Amino acid sequence: MLPPASYNARSHLRVPGSSGYSQRRVQLRGQERPITANRQTSWAFADAFVAEDDALHWARERARDSGLPSVSPGTGAALRLLAATADAKAVAEIGTGTGVSGIYLLQGMRPDGVLTTVDPEPERQQFAKQAFRAAGFASNRARFIPGRALDVLPRLADGGYDLVFCDGDRMESLECLAESLRLLRPGGLVCFEGVFARGRTVDSAAQPAEVLRLRELLRAVRESQELLPSLLPVGDGLLCAVRRG
Ligand SMILES: C[S@@+](CC[C@H](N)C(=O)[O-])C[C@H]1O[C@@H](n2cnc3c(N)ncnc32)[C@H](O)[C@@H]1O
Repeated sequence: MLPPASYNARSHLRVPGSSGYSQRRVQLRGQERPITANRQTSWAFADAFVAEDDALHWARERARDSGLPSVSPGTGAALRLLAATADAKAVAEIGTGTGVSGIYLLQGMRPDGVLTTVDPEPERQQFAKQAFRAAGFASNRARFIPGRALDVLPRLADGGYDLVFCDGDRMESLECLAESLRLLRPGGLVCFEGVFARGRTVDSAAQPAEVLRLRELLRAVRESQELLPSLLPVGDGLLCAVRRG
C-alpha cells in the first residue's frame, strides 16, 4: 500500500490501490497539518521561488507553442539541486521536450558533465539544442538521441549515470524504472516528473491507464529494496530515489 496520500475535509487519509482507491482509512498521527489557503500559497511561492533567465523563457515559449508541458521552475530548481548535490558528470534524460529541464540539469552538473537526452521528436530536440546554446552551454555538453526511451536506453552503459530523469511516456514508467536501475551507479538518483498527474493520482474517481501506471510506479519505488525514495511536492510531483550503494 502507498503511504498516506491525501487529506479530506473529515481529516482522514485514503490510500490509492493498484486499480484505484481502497477505502481503507489511515488515522492521522498528529504530525500532519491541514492544507490551508496559506499553505497552498506557500507551495505556489516555493514553485516560483527561482528566477528564470531568457534562455529558459525562450524554451518555455517554444514548449507552449507546441502545447507541450515543461517542468515548473520549482521542479527545475530541485533537479538542478539534485544534479549539483550528486556532482553529476553523466545524466540521462527521457523526454527532451524543448529543453527546459535540460537547462536546469546542465546548470547543476559538473562543468565537464554531459547530458544524454532522448526524445522521438527531432524538431523538439532542435529547439532544445538552440536553448542550451542560448543558456551558454557548449555543444559537447549534450548528446541528443532521437528515439523512444525503451529503444534507446538499452544501448546506454550499465552503471554509467549519476542521475536519470524520466519525463517521457507515463505508460512506460515501470520499464523506465527498471532501465534506470541498470543505468545508475550506486548512490545515483532516479527522478520521475508529473507523478501527481494534476491531482488524478490521489483522486478516487475512475482514472485512465496512465494514472494507474503512475500508481504502480509509486508503489514499486516505495517498496524497492534497492531504492531510498522521496516524493517531492514541487510542480506536478517529482518522485526521487537514490539507488543504494
Ligand atoms: C513533458 S515533455 C518533456 C518536457 C521536458 N522534460 C522539459 O521539461 O522541458 C515529454 C516529452 O517526452 C517525449 N516522449 C514521448 N514519448 C516518449 C518516449 N517513449 N520516449 C522518450 N520520450 C518520449 C515527447 O516527445 C515530449 O517531448
